Amino acid sequence: MAKKGHYSLMIHGGAGTLDRVKEPETAARYLQSIRRILEHGRAVLELGGSALQTVETCASLLEDDPLFNAGCGSVLNEFGKVEMDAAIMDGRDLSAGAVAAVQNIANPIQLARQVMAKSEHVMLIAEGAMRFADRCGIERQPDNYFYTPDRVAQLEQARQKHRIMLDHDANDADGETEKYGTIGAVARDREGNLAAATSTGGMVNKRMGRVGDSPILGAGVYADNETCAVSATGYGEDFMRTLIGKTISDFMLMKAMDGTQATAAGIDYLKRKVQGRGGVIVVDKNGQCSRGLTSKKMIHGWIEMCGESMAGYY
Ligand code: GLY
Repeated sequence: MAKKGHYSLMIHGGAGTLDRVKEPETAARYLQSIRRILEHGRAVLELGGSALQTVETCASLLEDDPLFNAGCGSVLNEFGKVEMDAAIMDGRDLSAGAVAAVQNIANPIQLARQVMAKSEHVMLIAEGAMRFADRCGIERQPDNYFYTPDRVAQLEQARQKHRIMLDHDANDADGETEKYGTIGAVARDREGNLAAATSTGGMVNKRMGRVGDSPILGAGVYADNETCAVSATGYGEDFMRTLIGKTISDFMLMKAMDGTQATAAGIDYLKRKVQGRGGVIVVDKNGQCSRGLTSKKMIHGWIEMCGESMAGYY
């Protein structure tokens, strides 16, 4: 049980076997970024910031690091364009904002927060979302802000193989071919409020207009103060079909499980029903941090009940 005033935070930078992480110096770079962003989140929470403010800050910083498949590091679609999805949810009252298939926006998570705060809607998509960004004073970035040589090479590889791929795709030494991008953050603040944020560039060579799980409430993102906050990373279609975030929350609400039991039950459901591919991070109402995955690895980090920052790729 969390003591009054304790906070917890978890972030992730993608599940699967990310090729670039195989090089020790690149693995170190990923983990360094995760630790740095966790400490930013800690500072927000220490100063009395809300869970909502914390997950927005952490997700924005992950979007700003080109290593991750979100914001400036987003993968390219079938036409070599970036189309991004993001959502944020406040566990206090289930308010939420989401954007899908947006282009030229540096921080889609901040646009999602604006949808929540300044529109009467939960989700805006494509050109409509971008016009709303203009009205909010969010500047559009040029295409070259998003293009990294790695992402261009990945698209070329995907086109040659006539495949839609997840972040990276090349057989690794132990045969796992799935590479899942996406970033996310979940937090419990000192007041016991929960929030979740998820943001992604989606899949390499995806069809124009394809939307994944990240902006879908109850799938790639969910937060309810009565239960937990969840962010998912992986093959979006699997998470949409199983509503993994809401499923984990419902295991807590209806089966009286704690966050760790509910996460395990959710992952079991994901595997049993759709052989789902990816992982989740979960902070429950008591501040307990849990993770679950069906892929071999996930880049993630956590601070449990004001403790030490932990980060790993496993
Ligand atoms: N999980 C991210 C996506 O499938 O778009």
